[in-house]
Amino acid sequence: MDKPKPSRAPQTRAKAMTPPRTVLAPRRDQPLTAPEVSAAKGKRRLVMITAFDEPSARVGDAAGVDMVLVGDSLAMAVLGRPDTLSVTLQEMIHHTRAAALGVKHALLVADMPFGSFQVSVPEAVRNACRLVAEGGARAVKLEGPRTKEVAAICAAGVPVVGHLGLTPQSLHRLGGYRVQGRQVEEAVMLVDQARALQQAGAFSLVLEAIPAPLGEAITRALDIPTIGIGAGPRCDGQVLVWADLLGLAPSAPPRFVRRYANLAQAAQAAIAAFAADVRTQRYPTADESYPSSAEFARALEKRLKERQAC
Ligand code: KIV
Repeated sequence: MDKPKPSRAPQTRAKAMTPPRTVLAPRRDQPLTAPEVSAAKGKRRLVMITAFDEPSARVGDAAGVDMVLVGDSLAMAVLGRPDTLSVTLQEMIHHTRAAALGVKHALLVADMPFGSFQVSVPEAVRNACRLVAEGGARAVKLEGPRTKEVAAICAAGVPVVGHLGLTPQSLHRLGGYRVQGRQVEEAVMLVDQARALQQAGAFSLVLEAIPAPLGEAITRALDIPTIGIGAGPRCDGQVLVWADLLGLAPSAPPRFVRRYANLAQAAQAAIAAFAADVRTQRYPTADESYPSSAEFARALEKRLKERQAC
């Protein structure tokens, strides 16, 4: 079985970059809204990127993505943890709040972490509201066919992105990071769950690690846009994790990742060059220092000598 790995790697895949096919999102002063994302279905392809702080959100936003997701992949991609299960609501709020400062044009979506929506519907609503009120998110995403929670959160005024297929918060139940929906019956069930999430009010749906024909079937079955990550080319949009796309992850990436840069290598080379310059006294130069007159230097030396003599 083709198992997508949980993360995130430095190794380069020799895949050619294809020319962009997307129509650019309109640039405006106001961030994109959830209804506008929904309405983009069939008109233009949507782009989502994860981010976790102000610089990553700012750079993603400036690149013109439609949605910036503070994903719970924060746990692995940034906090160095083995899976997404331990990231807390407080941590998600903390990082969402930072990311919110970097987003001007995109729709900022925050992931609801493990344990924040599974216990009860009122708790799910309360926690979704906290991501909006305290984190500055304009929508939330939650994993699984949680139609009651989705309906209640939408009723509270918070737009919801669904997430089906490989749902990493169910890692232990699924028995690992496995491609989902390979059997026809399971695939049909996923189509039904997707329809149910749409019916419950989700304005978009992330599809992770499912066979491409199933990604296409779900995309056709829905009026809301699907955002694929390992769900084939026929979804209405695509999402990649920041560290995967930019080559910052420490391990081999899943099959579906295309790496567009090797920032880990570039950063390491830059820091090694800095270290070498410091050690050989090539950094800093006079131009990189605050100047003063020769008179000031002489006077300072004289004064310090006088003090020593006392
Ligand atoms: O947490 C995350 O990064 C995600 C994406 C994989 C969609 O949920």
